[in-house]
Amino acid sequence: MNESHDATTGDMLTLALRLRRAEGEDAAQIVLMRDGALLREAGDEAGDEAWLHGAEALTADAMRSASARARFLLGRYAAKCALKALRPQLAPQEVEIRRGVFGQPVVVCPQAGDLAVSIAHCDGLAAAVAFPQGHPLGIDVEIVASVDAETARGFVAPHELAPGLAPQEAYARAWCAKESLGKILRCGLAAPSGALALAGEALQGAAWRGRFVAHDQYAFVTLRAQERAFALAHPARTQPLFDEARLLAFLG
Ligand SMILES: CC(C)(COP(=O)(O)OP(=O)(O)OC[C@H]1O[C@@H](n2cnc3c(N)ncnc32)[C@H](O)[C@@H]1OP(=O)(O)O)[C@@H](O)C(=O)NCCC(=O)NCCS
Repeated sequence: MNESHDATTGDMLTLALRLRRAEGEDAAQIVLMRDGALLREAGDEAGDEAWLHGAEALTADAMRSASARARFLLGRYAAKCALKALRPQLAPQEVEIRRGVFGQPVVVCPQAGDLAVSIAHCDGLAAAVAFPQGHPLGIDVEIVASVDAETARGFVAPHELAPGLAPQEAYARAWCAKESLGKILRCGLAAPSGALALAGEALQGAAWRGRFVAHDQYAFVTLRAQERAFALAHPARTQPLFDEARLLAFLG
């Protein structure tokens, strides 16, 4: 399991995330992982047992669909790599990332202290961010081409879209931004109309940033690689600092 803060292997990106505020900085960690990373781990002598908590193994075993199981495992592995980058002494098999009553990930482990995680899955890729509970974050990744504009119109109003983007990308980024806040709020996209409304700024290079109208204590940043859109929701007075170019290069 990778312990460094900033590293890329073929299947895995670990990216330091600094949460800068006027009063100081908190450390967080982003991990992106393709399913090859898990195959490599499973090929090691110990396989899943080296990192999977007993309760997580039971949850995975109870899953009927092999693809759902693979997604679950990849997300758990990515989240534990992110936790371990912040707490190198952590024993991954002693960390349970439980599903809360809303489906949200709940980190159960004394060694993890105040850390929490947010997780996203996207077509053979998992994204996770680990952060102090007191400094909430939400993450999402989507394949741009898979966001159906017709469905997205039910969740995103035209005035919320980033100007200057092709419609599909604009909808994908707005969708992603809303899901990232939905994860912080624990409601996902199942929120009343307007609850996740966006007020975006002009594009700045690859980044599209903005605020959430009804929750203006939160803001978002979205990035778009060739196929995928990425979003991070964060407290509005926090500046999330990470190497955007490396994230985009890995997302591909
Ligand atoms: C929650 C939701 C945003 C997840 O988005 P998605 O595109 O389906 O899936 P993603 O790959 O982006 O994210 C999945 C991860 O989100 C996390 N997640 C699921 N529900 C969550 C919630 N309510 N709050 C925060 N995180 C949540 C989980 O970690 C999950 O991965 P895991 O099951 O392997 O642990 C989406 O399913 C949704 O809007 N659902 C409808 C609302 C809903 O179910 N609300 C729960 C209230 S009962």
